Amino acid sequence: MRNSVTLSLAVLALASLTASSQTPAAAQAPPALPQVALTPPMGWNSWNFFAEKVSDKDIRAAADQLVATGMKDAGYIYVNIDDTWEGERDANGVLHSNAKFPDMKALADYVHSKGLKIGIYSSPGPKTCAGYEGSYNHEAQDAQLYAQWGIDYLKYDACSFIQEVMEKQAPNDKAEQMRMMRAAYAKMDQALKATGRPIVYSFCQYGWDAVWEWAPAAGGNLWRTTGDIHPRWDRVYAILSQQAGLEKYAGPGHWNDPDMLEVGNGKLTLAENRTHFSMWAMLAAPLLAGNDLPNMKPEIKAILTNRDVIAIDQDPLGRQGSRAYSEGEVEVWTRHLAGGALAIAVINAGDNRYSTHPFHLNLCKLGLHGTQTGKDLWTGKTVELTDNESLELASHDVLLVRVEKPIVNTARSMQPATQSQAAVK
Ligand code: GLA
Repeated sequence: MRNSVTLSLAVLALASLTASSQTPAAAQAPPALPQVALTPPMGWNSWNFFAEKVSDKDIRAAADQLVATGMKDAGYIYVNIDDTWEGERDANGVLHSNAKFPDMKALADYVHSKGLKIGIYSSPGPKTCAGYEGSYNHEAQDAQLYAQWGIDYLKYDACSFIQEVMEKQAPNDKAEQMRMMRAAYAKMDQALKATGRPIVYSFCQYGWDAVWEWAPAAGGNLWRTTGDIHPRWDRVYAILSQQAGLEKYAGPGHWNDPDMLEVGNGKLTLAENRTHFSMWAMLAAPLLAGNDLPNMKPEIKAILTNRDVIAIDQDPLGRQGSRAYSEGEVEVWTRHLAGGALAIAVINAGDNRYSTHPFHLNLCKLGLHGTQTGKDLWTGKTVELTDNESLELASHDVLLVRVEKPIVNTARSMQPATQSQAAVK
């Protein structure tokens, strides 16, 4: 009895010694922030539809509609205010929102009250792309302001940093200019982390300096790989083509960003909207809708809320798809999914259905062997894909199939070769 009491006291003493010797170190270490963007962020952004006209009212309406349309339940969580919310700095350098956004804290509270998160926009330069106030030399102050307002996501857009800072301070010295850009993005990362608030950090510098190679180390959760998207097929397809070869840079917490969705905007046909959405899912791209939510047509809502396609995008393995091969104007992309499943997308980039007439699906080129059973994610039907089968697709349309248990050709690796890719603005 006495021995066990002595032992217990000794254990207690040791435990308290260990605890007290650990306390100072533990108190010094900043608490680890929860990881963000483990799957590509989903939500809505104001730019593609409203551009500089966006106001507080539009952001509230977008939040309301995400809930009312079921988009929130499908995974669209972030409501992101893009450029043109910024006002002037006061004598203390504190930035204020402009008259279109009378009370940012109240707006953030409103968005949060719907179970959604809110995003904002700035630039490492003195001015944003639309000529509003940027964060240059005010990074820490702005990050603290965002945290006070309750901001959950920042899109940081290079804009005037290129002409006004990089090119002026290091004329004709590309290497120094790129170092400055990397430092500017890392600086805001430190400022955001110092707030103690988990904030998704989105780089927007159009793919300069092979951003995919250094963005994760500079804190980027996603980075734009190209110049701006427009609601036209040729632009959507050009951006898609520029993603081939970038797949190895994406993974949980860090994603290539081929720009926000134009689904439902401009004159994109239904087939083009479907293909755009399918391919962004194949690319593990952030799914930020950019359409007029209060006036969304049912067929557009059906595309944006297709759960099977969203599941491809949000697959927990986080492996971006790649272009397996192309033949004429037909392209075949594959994406490896958790549990050994495979997504296959065939697109007809040609101007009419005859573009697909000579096309026969080559399963061997996908590393597959024999007939594959899968689900067509746009019709919901079970399909069988046989080797050398001829496929006919309408112009700019897609066949998207999920094969749960692919029969693999063991004689050949399923991993297609990657291609090198240059940044394109
Ligand atoms: C740049 C970005 C766009 C948008 C505008 C806003 O062009 O690439 O996505 O944010 O700026 O001015």
